[in-house]
Amino acid sequence: MKKILVTGGAGYIGSHTALALLKSDYEVVVVDNLFNSSQESLTRVEKLSGKSLTFYQSDIRDKAALINIFKKEKIDAVIHFAGLKAVGESVLKPLAYYQNNVEGTLTLVEVMKECGTNCLVFSSSATVYGEANQPPYVETQPLGNPSSPYGKTKAMVEQILMDVAVSDPEIKIANLRYFNPIGADASGQIGEDPNGIPNNLMPFVAQVAVGKRDKLAIFGDDYPTKDGTCLRDYIHVTDLAVGHIDALTWLLKQEQGCCEAFNLGTGEPLSVLDIVHGFENFTKQTISYEFSPRRSGDLPAFWANSSKAQEILAWQPTKSLQDMMEDTWRWQSNNPQGYQN
Ligand code: NAD
Ligand code: UD1
Repeated sequence: MKKILVTGGAGYIGSHTALALLKSDYEVVVVDNLFNSSQESLTRVEKLSGKSLTFYQSDIRDKAALINIFKKEKIDAVIHFAGLKAVGESVLKPLAYYQNNVEGTLTLVEVMKECGTNCLVFSSSATVYGEANQPPYVETQPLGNPSSPYGKTKAMVEQILMDVAVSDPEIKIANLRYFNPIGADASGQIGEDPNGIPNNLMPFVAQVAVGKRDKLAIFGDDYPTKDGTCLRDYIHVTDLAVGHIDALTWLLKQEQGCCEAFNLGTGEPLSVLDIVHGFENFTKQTISYEFSPRRSGDLPAFWANSSKAQEILAWQPTKSLQDMMEDTWRWQSNNPQGYQN
């Protein structure tokens, strides 16, 4: 049985991926400093899977601690989620973002190399395409110049990993470029639990529905789109989690080193109003909203061409908009205060 280290595994996407790994009979070791998460997510992952995992509360930048974990656990491959992800905050605190996301990855890869682990799946983002590329985004387009320090850290880490792969014929890397992950495990037991005021659309909508926030501000109604609101490619977090298993399975089969980027999205652009009305329609909740000025840095529209992941990884998203909305609501209504319940 292969043993997988999941950095940031207590977080939103990490916990869903840890669950998918356990269900696929991988052994799971999580390293998370719990900066933006709670260990309760992992307790629930264990309950849902009926299996246990190993948890270390540690920062990936603590090299000595990471070496000890690798030596003790004999890790076969790493899925690397740990990092900071709030776009607006990254503009205010760029150093924290470069330290956490770039330095954290450098330390992790150094330790992997020292300990002979050569398989890595990295959490990248559609934001690496930047403004210059036209949607649908495809992996053959060049890395753009993302507008925020957060986005720049993702593009920078991809670039570093490509250089590492050139220098080391043994190392195998998949850079997974997520589009807009939403939804929750169908059990309603794990989901997205952002600290403070949510930056992203879906958790904000869910918190309005549960009465935690008064109304949603829709950023901009004058974009050149069908209803004037921005278009995005929303993907169910469980489909995304399965994408990690497919990427891992593919990497572990490769006989030569590689570094490949894969888009993970559905390819279907939906507007902010599609999401609001979809949520209302499928959950029978009412969402109060008002239009407000555009948010700085938002692009009018982007979505994925995910043919490469479908052809090479045999990955296929299976969840519908209805699943995304119902699962979000099941999680939020069962856990109005997130994991603090
Ligand atoms: P999250 O904040 O829920 O999870 C990240 C986890 O990493 C948290 O549990 C946090 O405590 C942990 N962490 C942060 N810095 C750490 C460090 N130095 N050492 C150890 N643990 C650390 O975020 P998420 O939504 O699950 O995102 C996971 C990854 O996917 C991130 O790298 C993010 O940038 C990337 N991503 C997310 C989205 C999205 O919309 N959620 C989109 C594209 C890419
Ligand atoms: C954002 C980041 C992106 C990051 C991703 C996941 C920006 C510019 N991009 O993507 O780099 O990878 O999150 O962390 O921030 N919206 C509202 N009201 C809200 C919240 C959002 O109208 O309260 C709108 C936004 O204007 C956007 C859409 O909803 O049109 C989706 O927003 P969001 O969930 O923040 O994701 P992105 O901006 O696409």
